[in-house]
Amino acid sequence: MEKIRTHVENFDEVLNGGIPAGSVVLVAGTAGTMKSSFAYYVLYSNAKKKKSLYLSLEQDRGNLERQMSGFGMGDERVKIVERKDIGKGLEGIRAVTFMEMFSEYLKNLKNEVNYDILVIDSLPVLEIIAEMKKPRSELFKFFERLRTLNVTSFLITEMSQDSNTYGRYDEDFLADGIIHLKMEAIGDVKVQRRIRCVKMRSSKHSPDWYTLLFDDGKFQVAQVISEA
Ligand SMILES: Nc1ncnc2c1ncn2[C@@H]1O[C@H](COP(=O)(O)OP(=O)(O)O)[C@@H](O)[C@H]1O
Ligand SMILES: [Mg+2]
Repeated sequence: MEKIRTHVENFDEVLNGGIPAGSVVLVAGTAGTMKSSFAYYVLYSNAKKKKSLYLSLEQDRGNLERQMSGFGMGDERVKIVERKDIGKGLEGIRAVTFMEMFSEYLKNLKNEVNYDILVIDSLPVLEIIAEMKKPRSELFKFFERLRTLNVTSFLITEMSQDSNTYGRYDEDFLADGIIHLKMEAIGDVKVQRRIRCVKMRSSKHSPDWYTLLFDDGKFQVAQVISEA
C-alpha cells in the first residue's frame, strides 16, 4: 500500500509509515494549534514528487503565502486556490446541491492539475458556504466523491476548547483518518503543542499524544515525558 509521508520527524513512524494514499483525513484542533501550517507542511515536503492543491477558504492566497514563507516554507509548487477562484470555477457547473457542484469542481481541477494531495481549509467554512439542507447525507456523498478522485485529502476542522467531537455532522466516522492537534497546559504557566493520530483506517498506528515542535521551518514530534 502506498503511504504519503508527512515528513514530520518521527511522526511517520507513529503512523506506521505515513498516511495510506487515497485516505480522507480530518486535521482537527482548536484555533492556533497549527492545523493550517501542518497541512501545508505535508504538501511542501512532498512537493518534489507529489502535486498538490491547497484550497484556502479562510485566508486569501497572499496572506497564506506570507505566513508560510515566514515559517520558511514558501514554495511555488504548492498550488493555492483562494475563495474567489472557487467562485469562478463553479460557474457553469450544474448540480442540485452546492456540495455536488463543489465535488464536480474538484474533479475538473483534478483533470487540469492532476493533484495527488488536497487540503481543504476549512471544512466548517465550506459547510457554511454550502448551506446544506441535509448535511449528513450531503457530506456522506461528498466524502465518497473525494475517495473516487484518487487523491489523499486533508480536511481541516475547527474544534471548540471543550468539545471532543471532530466534526459537526458525523465527519469523524466518515473520515478514514483523524489527526488531532491541541495545546496542553503544563502547570499554570507553560503550554505545549501536542499531536495524536486518533484514527487511521488500515494502519497500525500509535494512538498516543506526542509533543509537536516547530523550529527553523521543520516540524518534529517527541514522546511526552510523563510526570507520573
Ligand atoms: N515563527 C513561528 N514559529 C512557530 N510557531 C509560530 C510562528 N509564528 C506563529 N506561530 C504559531 O502558529 C500559529 C498559527 O498557526 P496556524 O497553522 O495558522 O494555526 P491554525 O490553522 O490551527 O489556526 C500561531 O497562533 C502561532 O502560535
Ligand atoms: Mg488555520
